[in-house]
Amino acid sequence: MTVGAAREFNWLGESGVLTRVNSLTCGQERLGFERGDGMFVSMTGLLIATRNLHKVEEIRAILGGGFRYLMLKDFEDAPEVEEDAGTFVGNATKKAVELAKWRSRLQDKGCEDTFVLADDSGLEVDALNGAPGVHSARFAALDTGDPGNSASAENNAKLLRLMKGVPMEQRGARFRCVVALAPVPKLREEGSSPVCYADEAELGTRIFEGLCEGRIGFEPKGRGGFGYDPLFIPEGYERTFGELSEEVKNRLSHRAGALAGVREFLARPRRDSTTDEHG
Ligand code: IMP
Repeated sequence: MTVGAAREFNWLGESGVLTRVNSLTCGQERLGFERGDGMFVSMTGLLIATRNLHKVEEIRAILGGGFRYLMLKDFEDAPEVEEDAGTFVGNATKKAVELAKWRSRLQDKGCEDTFVLADDSGLEVDALNGAPGVHSARFAALDTGDPGNSASAENNAKLLRLMKGVPMEQRGARFRCVVALAPVPKLREEGSSPVCYADEAELGTRIFEGLCEGRIGFEPKGRGGFGYDPLFIPEGYERTFGELSEEVKNRLSHRAGALAGVREFLARPRRDSTTDEHG
């Protein structure tokens, strides 16, 4: 039953009307939209597993409307997941799966058809044998032993120091991004206690990767973006990501590459988890 039409809406290229419905099978309110042909399409929830607001904005700008976005900052008790796996895939998967299990245990409404989207990304510099790689966020702190991430200015200063005297033709580098997409497992009533089929999060996790080739400049330029953006000149350009517009970065970036795979995957028809017989 359609309860109210909120606003005109564009969903992955299809236009429709944003709508709330009461699902007759599970008695829960669902957010979605009614397509031109009258079909109801429920809106997939995406919990973006980062506290980096720049990253959240980039991800939202790249994936666009059509998703019910949830942020970690909306959940005060969201666990901190340590990124200690040693690879981008390992860290992204660990974050996505642990948060999907935690989200599932909350037992509230709003878990249906929701994925945790976790990314791990970093810079790989050829002249440094792929460093800083998975250590990109705390590159400077590796020398001091300071816990936590380093300020971007310190990471950039260290990178420039290590690259001193390296000519432009040997300053090749790339940003790499791995996105792990883990479904939030449903809680199912078994006897009197709810059971979370946590392995569903692991088994259902999909991995997407994106690369952005470029080179490292000789000095920081531009105030846009974050992290190593003021030093990174993408292939085919003469300016850094710090100088280029967000629109250009969101088209070329490693994150855009990985998220293109996510968008394509989420656009495929899936079984609606809110209406199966266990729901
Ligand atoms: P994270 O662990 O995926 O948040 O990223 C690790 C680090 O890689 C960040 O703290 C940045 O220093 C760097 N990084 C990742 N993506 C970008 C980007 O798009 N621009 C600049 N630096 C980035």
